[in-house]
Amino acid sequence: MTARLLDGQAIAAAIRQSVLPDVAAFATAVGRPPGLGIVLVGEDPASEIYVRNKVRAGTESGLWVDLQRLPSSATLEDLLVVVERLNRSDPHDGILVQSPLPAAMGRGAAQRVFDAIDPEKDVDGFHPVSVGRLVQGRAQLAPCTPSGVIEMLQRSDIPMSGARAVIVGRSEIVGKPMAMLLLQRDATVTVCHSKTRDLPALCATADILVAAIGRAGFVTPDFVRPGATVVDVGINRVTDGAIARRLFAPGSPRLADFERRGSVVVGDVHPDVVEVAGALTPVPGGVGPLTIAMLLKNTVAAAQGRQRPA
Ligand code: GUN
Repeated sequence: MTARLLDGQAIAAAIRQSVLPDVAAFATAVGRPPGLGIVLVGEDPASEIYVRNKVRAGTESGLWVDLQRLPSSATLEDLLVVVERLNRSDPHDGILVQSPLPAAMGRGAAQRVFDAIDPEKDVDGFHPVSVGRLVQGRAQLAPCTPSGVIEMLQRSDIPMSGARAVIVGRSEIVGKPMAMLLLQRDATVTVCHSKTRDLPALCATADILVAAIGRAGFVTPDFVRPGATVVDVGINRVTDGAIARRLFAPGSPRLADFERRGSVVVGDVHPDVVEVAGALTPVPGGVGPLTIAMLLKNTVAAAQGRQRPA
């Protein structure tokens, strides 16, 4: 069996198309487009790429995107001052502070920053109020990556109601909110982590397996029930030739890519899983584009929410 590949680019394009009328209607009614403030601290190369893609996608969809950069020498207090300014600014409907923050800001800095964002502008869905609303099934702004996964499953006609869903990874950004969103769609959800016993066998009970652990090629075919849907949230840059050769067969185009560039982007799911799964999200081109599409959707939702009387 070869898995059906779920095309994240196409689904993201459809979502982005669907927000255009709402952006136009907002701009007509309010006299300005929905606004998104993005704060990037330092020069982390992966964050530079993610932020560039977010700015471009937002601008292409007619949003006003305001990128605020701080040097890597900025302190947590400097960053909190910027967040407070964006909280008070009317044209900024959404606020996103790109993580990770520089290590020098200290442990717990990201959570302190997320806690400082006005929940009505929290397009990442990381504020405790947003998390509480999500757990209670009344999210206004749910985290972008897991809500993108739900859109992908829905639009690909993959049933969630009654399905056994297994999530590998319990992060605040993906694993935990993913569990809530699947539970709200009546899946039976198990969340696994580094201490889980018999992990491959447990994963092999899943109708829907979500890999969100940040380890290249960790989910091998023995984790996958034949025909299951496998969602790969991982984005790992592999620069070690031994790892690349363990993941990709000799002569494969991806290995040739690695030889040419010295690196290759790989998900958390081993490429051989395509032979076992019923449906699979590729990396790149699977979940990644959906995260950005959901950010645009959340920004429009935040903008609309702020215009409604409380
Ligand atoms: N870093 C990696 N993913 C994300 C995300 O979804 N939001 C923010 N703010 N930072 C991230």
